[in-house]
Amino acid sequence: MVTVKNIRRIGITTGGGDCPGLNAVIRGVVKSAICEYGWDVIGIEDGFDGLLKPGKTVTLELKDVNGILARGGTILGTTNRGNPFKYPVEKNGEIVPQDLSQQVVDNMKMLRLDALVVIGGDGTLRIASDFYKMGVPVVGVPKTIDNDLSATEITFGFDTALNTATDAIDKIQTTAESHHRVMLVEVMGRNSGWIAIEAGIAGGADIILIPEIPYDIDAICKEINKRQWEGCKATIIVVAEGAMPKGGDIVAKEEDEKLGIVRLGGVAQVVADEITKRTKQETRVTVLGHVQRGGSPSPFDRILSSRYGTAAVKLVANGDFGKMVSLRPPNIVPVPIEEAIGVIKTVSLNGDMVRTARALGILLGEEEEHIFQCSSSQSLNKA
Ligand code: F6P
Repeated sequence: MVTVKNIRRIGITTGGGDCPGLNAVIRGVVKSAICEYGWDVIGIEDGFDGLLKPGKTVTLELKDVNGILARGGTILGTTNRGNPFKYPVEKNGEIVPQDLSQQVVDNMKMLRLDALVVIGGDGTLRIASDFYKMGVPVVGVPKTIDNDLSATEITFGFDTALNTATDAIDKIQTTAESHHRVMLVEVMGRNSGWIAIEAGIAGGADIILIPEIPYDIDAICKEINKRQWEGCKATIIVVAEGAMPKGGDIVAKEEDEKLGIVRLGGVAQVVADEITKRTKQETRVTVLGHVQRGGSPSPFDRILSSRYGTAAVKLVANGDFGKMVSLRPPNIVPVPIEEAIGVIKTVSLNGDMVRTARALGILLGEEEEHIFQCSSSQSLNKA
């Protein structure tokens, strides 16, 4: 096992979709590695691409992380297309996956990196875990707005995305009420409904569609008609991008099985078209998209990212490789990366979030027995 006295120089990289808090983690790693341990820190640009292509590494000094705590994105750049085990290369005019993992290992040796801190979601951490199995000393940091990583209470970036989505729903509420419309807000989250259900509850949505509960369009239309009849001014539907109808499939913008790429998006419009056809009500769709990944991290994410970054350095110092830092309130603890990526963390059907939504009278896309009442701000309150 590598111990603290063997560490001189560490690499750090950010992979997968960006999210608020990445820079705060980088800052935490750089500050702790330099100030506490006196190590050199090498920034690797654009995820593992930085270990495959020349000229994509940079020495990070304290001055390089000044002022980045509150900045969204990542100063190192990122990609969600660069899996070195299935790297897209052109052969005979066709893009095919090729295993370039050994090249990454060789380049790490050439750069004299004693360890690698990998900040990423399940895709990036799976790659990190595969490198660990090849003998690379890696430590993971759980990132993603989707909050779909197991073995941690929360990933950094989620809280900020949740704030952004909630703020958008608040704004949609007022225009929906003015025009008496059915307004659909599509949020990200891939195959888990954390952003949808939490932002939906926080924003006072009437219907929330999550991937964990395939929706029944009849139940949705029945609810909309009922709300209309009861005099509700509007209906707000929050739709997770991974939502799907009962017996149906997800809506994807792009799919490449060979490269393992599925880009979700468009389900809210599909649902809206069905609603208009069946209820004759006016619908409008807002797809929040990448706005959820941008902006300055919330104070919660700044603190969590700083805790994760400094804890990751501690794992390196202890030679605790193949592990990911994880929030197990109130502590940050190491967990095997394997544990974090084994299964994605989805919204539990028996969990408190679903129970709370139902208790609030929110329809989760399927027929249920629940007492419905318009909130006072929504009822017409005619004299
Ligand atoms: O995993 C983060 C995420 O933002 C998902 O919520 C979304 O499906 C995906 O990334 C979008 O990726 P891209 O940046 O490739 O459009």
